[in-house]
Amino acid sequence: MQELSRKNALFTDSVIRRMTRVSIACGAINLSQGFPDFDPPMEIMDRLAEVAHRGPHQYPITMGAPNFRRALAKKCGHFMGRTIDPETEVVVTVGSTEAMVDTIFALTNPGDKIVVFSPYFENYKAQAIFASCEPVFVPLIPPAFRFDPEVLEDAFRQHPKAILICNPSNPSGRVFTMDELLLIADLCQRYDVYAIMDEPYEHIYYGENRHIYMNSLPGMWERTVSCSSLSKTYSITGWRLGYAIAPKVLMDRIKQYHDFNTVAVAAPLMEAAIAGLELPYSYYEDFRAHYTHMKELFVGGMQQIGIPLTDPEGTYFVLADVSPYMKKGQSDVDFCVEMAEKVGVAAVPGSSFFNEDINHIVRLHFAKRDETLSEALDRLSHMREKLGI
Ligand SMILES: Cc1ncc(COP(=O)(O)O)c(C=O)c1O
Repeated sequence: MQELSRKNALFTDSVIRRMTRVSIACGAINLSQGFPDFDPPMEIMDRLAEVAHRGPHQYPITMGAPNFRRALAKKCGHFMGRTIDPETEVVVTVGSTEAMVDTIFALTNPGDKIVVFSPYFENYKAQAIFASCEPVFVPLIPPAFRFDPEVLEDAFRQHPKAILICNPSNPSGRVFTMDELLLIADLCQRYDVYAIMDEPYEHIYYGENRHIYMNSLPGMWERTVSCSSLSKTYSITGWRLGYAIAPKVLMDRIKQYHDFNTVAVAAPLMEAAIAGLELPYSYYEDFRAHYTHMKELFVGGMQQIGIPLTDPEGTYFVLADVSPYMKKGQSDVDFCVEMAEKVGVAAVPGSSFFNEDINHIVRLHFAKRDETLSEALDRLSHMREKLGI
């Protein structure tokens, strides 16, 4: 038998999604993979029920159903502060995940470098490997998770093709400031680098920190691809609806990959999700207020228990220091499995996000009903006894 792909050896399965399987197997509360346990907006569910009987049920237009793209362009244009052409500047993909893969393939050649902040969302490394690209990691330095501009410029001096930025950022919870984004935008223009933005948490930010779209900054529309999805904003992670927005020159290339990669996304789901895209803009304020409530409940509860953790500026993730609960020499992966089994709460080992050698941090998320969060906090408050520490 001939040798199979050598690339497989360069990445594992997703540890985040593995932890969901561990969580289900031991009946834990799943605070590992980020998805809510509450319903999507009623408008979307009602529309889905209608669509079940009326269709569409056949292949949609490859780039996304025209009415869905129109609604998406209108909603995204409102928040990005520009008119987006649904015909030439939008493609609908299987989540932000596919949008990122299509974009990386469309913008790079094998051997190209891609600047990635660490900690990073674990998909990025595998996606770079798919395209035979090399990630160049730039640390976001704890506890504030800010980057050193000198170190970032050093990475740009290596002639990367693109910088890949998650904003608001999973898992650090950072929402990059205007100053930080302007600094990155300046580097992108001076070193002729594309910005690939992963923005599924664009509507989840707290307090003063508003999310700013990179493609809205001067000189950046031409060189930015914004990848995002409806997964988090409308609590429909299972629908797998995502998209990329980019200028036509880039979009023409991205569309080619989408066309042959997945053909199209689910037609009935696009039709039903238009109800979400057309919700009044007050929806996003209410949505943020709900997340602020969940964050306060969970972060406050963890602080009371005495587990040191981040207080995110955006997203629904926290990074918690579990070193006092770990056995000598235990890996964070083994710790998370033991925690799911014995404490009944599933988390993601921090090592799957950091390029640096980190073994004492776990990621938890709080996109859950109050009852779920309270039960999880109760279980976590007994962590020492349950783990026999
Ligand atoms: C940073 C980031 N990007 C992309 C995704 C994948 O999202 P989607 O459901 O849009 O594929 C996630 C999901 O957790 C994420 O956290």
